[in-house]
Amino acid sequence: MKNEILAFLSPQYSWGESLHYLEVTDSTNDQLKKMAQSGAPQGTALIAGYQTGGRGRRGRTFLSPADMGIYLSILLRPDCAPGELMHLTCAAGGAMCNALEAATGLRPGIKWTNDLVSGKRKLGGILTELKFTPQGKLDFAIIGIGINCCQQEGDFPPELREIAGSLAMVTGKEIHRAQVAAAMLDALHEMSKQLLTGKEALLCQYRKDCITIGNEISLIRGEEVLHGRALDVDGEGALVVAFPDGHVEAVNAGEVSVRGMYGYI
Ligand code: BTN
Repeated sequence: MKNEILAFLSPQYSWGESLHYLEVTDSTNDQLKKMAQSGAPQGTALIAGYQTGGRGRRGRTFLSPADMGIYLSILLRPDCAPGELMHLTCAAGGAMCNALEAATGLRPGIKWTNDLVSGKRKLGGILTELKFTPQGKLDFAIIGIGINCCQQEGDFPPELREIAGSLAMVTGKEIHRAQVAAAMLDALHEMSKQLLTGKEALLCQYRKDCITIGNEISLIRGEEVLHGRALDVDGEGALVVAFPDGHVEAVNAGEVSVRGMYGYI
């Protein structure tokens, strides 16, 4: 698999020597974190054939069956203060739309903040994790991405059958996983060059891909469910929401999760 991915990468990709492939691991994010702590360089990437403990945001499980998806984590070591990376998940989201469009012809949408979707189905998600030094400086960032590639509806557990999808399902095409993985790496490599200097351009692309903007949403904050209308995504990646009483608030991905008014999207 590793050689196949390398063969699909663009000649500009400069992190090929730091690409690692494991047939199985618990979580590529967790393994890459260990590699980062041992000094792995910027651009180190880890891809697994399957994960036994794939993790999503808010402590959820990310199902990662063998040879069905791409389970990829990449290490970045940007030279900046932690507060300058609030847009990292959004930047990765836009990069994934570019990658999936390049590999399959289908440009997915993004359900704020980190779900890649097509129609009413989630195709995958992004889990960004930052590590700080004891002095509170940024040590490294890990972007973990899981994409469902080859599943058909019956491959998902019954409770996910109506809301999960794969690239094969939504394109009707056969999916070449190595090609998808290479497109993801190429897009992350490109995104990393713009991460600190092209923040507005990255967010501008994110706003175009984000299907939440302009829609009525339910906002879940702890036990509380609020309704509102998503107006925009601000310069820090927060969702700007208008509430029925007229007040407008920018909500942070760490404090709320969002659902469509009549379902997951
Ligand atoms: C989400 O849907 O909330 C995010 C899912 C992120 C899953 C990916 S798969 C590769 C990496 N390793 C993990 O354990 N999680 C991420």
